[in-house]
Amino acid sequence: MLKVNINGVDFKNPVIAASGTFGFGAEYNNFYDVGVLGGISSKGLTLNEKAGNDGIRIYETAEGIMNSVGLQNPGVDAFIKNELPRMKSLGTNVIANLGGGTIEDYEKAIVKLNDTDIDIIELNISCPNVKAGGMAFGIKGEVAKDIVSKVRALTNKKLMVKLSPNAENICDMAVKCVEGGADSLSLVNTFKAMAVDINKRDIIFNNKFAGLSGPAIKPIALRMVHEVSRVVDVPVIGLGGIMTAEDAIEFMMVGASAIQIGTVNFLNPRAGIEIIEGMEEFCRREGIKNINEIVGCIN
Ligand SMILES: Cc1cc2nc3c(=O)[nH]c(=O)nc-3n(C[C@H](O)[C@H](O)[C@H](O)COP(=O)(O)O)c2cc1C
Repeated sequence: MLKVNINGVDFKNPVIAASGTFGFGAEYNNFYDVGVLGGISSKGLTLNEKAGNDGIRIYETAEGIMNSVGLQNPGVDAFIKNELPRMKSLGTNVIANLGGGTIEDYEKAIVKLNDTDIDIIELNISCPNVKAGGMAFGIKGEVAKDIVSKVRALTNKKLMVKLSPNAENICDMAVKCVEGGADSLSLVNTFKAMAVDINKRDIIFNNKFAGLSGPAIKPIALRMVHEVSRVVDVPVIGLGGIMTAEDAIEFMMVGASAIQIGTVNFLNPRAGIEIIEGMEEFCRREGIKNINEIVGCIN
């Protein structure tokens, strides 16, 4: 009933744990069998190990959270050696989320991921481009196309490109990434945001800005998924503020072939299984035999 296929990869259902909110899956496996999920996107990986940002990393805001984790991760080599075998043993699709500060970093890392049994690589282009003064790769369509095509040339793995909602023009960005060779697109990453401590007369985050996620962003994310799924012919994976099965179904009705859940995992570590059960219940109630029937049913 809930089976979907993205780029030739079978998913038992369209619910994928979003990068950076699910680690490598092991901790959540204490709350439910995470093998029931359609897939897990790993914590964002970089070529070399990263310690992440100093200062406050997570800050609650109305209907959401802001984060400035700074891609803390063990690096691609340690991931392949220590985390990937454990992730694969969980019984669900493994998506490796890859970030980087330079094109060379992405290129070296993708080559390492080629020789693994990872199902899909999710390219996070929201990272600051060190050589271009820190402006993220995912802001300008041409810059994104350049990095996607360079990575594409080095891998036969299925490439899901994760779009930033901070892009100058989300539809142009989507089209450019597909031109560069993306097999599918996931959107959205977090929104650039800011928080202030009035008593200290200072900014909350050491890096000044942080990424906003959670229910606060859902209506904007939904609009972007709707718009993007109309201008590209590759599968679109929707995320941003999904808290319930109903939210997930909204994203699918506007065009998402699958969805990801992020912030909700922090609030309710069993959200994944509850959303899957809620979607099954919706299908039974509505007489939907195949979830793909509802993808893009709203124009
Ligand atoms: C604490 C935290 C860490 C994140 N780390 C990553 C990351 O490493 N790579 C990535 O592509 N997205 C990362 N994200 C973005 C999420 O995967 C997701 O795109 C975003 O939070 C919107 O979905 P949500 O509202 O369901 O959380 C992170 C989000 C949060 C809250």
